[in-house]
Amino acid sequence: MRLEPVTEDNYRAVIALEVHEEQRGFVATNLRSIADAWIYRPKMQPLALYSGEELVGFTLLYRDEPHDLHIVRFMIDRRAQGRGLGRKGLAAIAEVARGEGRTQLSLSLVPGNAVAHGLYAAFGFKETGEMEGDEIVMKHDLTPARHP
Ligand SMILES: CC(C)(COP(=O)(O)OP(=O)(O)OC[C@H]1O[C@@H](n2cnc3c(N)ncnc32)[C@H](O)[C@@H]1OP(=O)(O)O)[C@@H](O)C(=O)NCCC(=O)NCCS
Repeated sequence: MRLEPVTEDNYRAVIALEVHEEQRGFVATNLRSIADAWIYRPKMQPLALYSGEELVGFTLLYRDEPHDLHIVRFMIDRRAQGRGLGRKGLAAIAEVARGEGRTQLSLSLVPGNAVAHGLYAAFGFKETGEMEGDEIVMKHDLTPARHP
């Protein structure tokens, strides 16, 4: 899985990615996310997710605190879901964070988004007990385990 910038060459295809109808309440449209990224630049970064040559998803990352990489949006196109690409996308985002010396991934999700919650929990995200508006906050510690 590769994370690539959203550019004049791929932004139309990124905007055309979509989730299943019943998932629409779980994530903003990619069009909205690209607008958010423009407004909150350069702290927000929109990225296209590629599996080989295939554009399969999108994420919007936010860098505010030095130790944390915040995942504002994360989606896999409905035609590409269920193939393990969500998990691979998270792994690619974790690599980016580690490469920048960050020790934590954070995100929030709509209560009732069971698939995303299951994916995040399996990846190592834990609920913090906090809410961000109506959304459940989850964090994942990237600090490598220490072996004395
Ligand atoms: C959440 C999302 C990114 C997962 O993407 P994905 O590529 O389907 O994820 P994966 O194929 O890696 O599957 C992850 C897990 O969810 C499970 N899963 C995937 N689709 C599922 C479905 N429709 N029903 C039940 N479980 C499902 C998989 O079995 C897998 O669990 P496993 O590792 O125990 O087998 C995708 O469903 C999506 O884009 N949803 C809409 C947007 C959204 O909710 N984003 C998150 C906002 S916080």
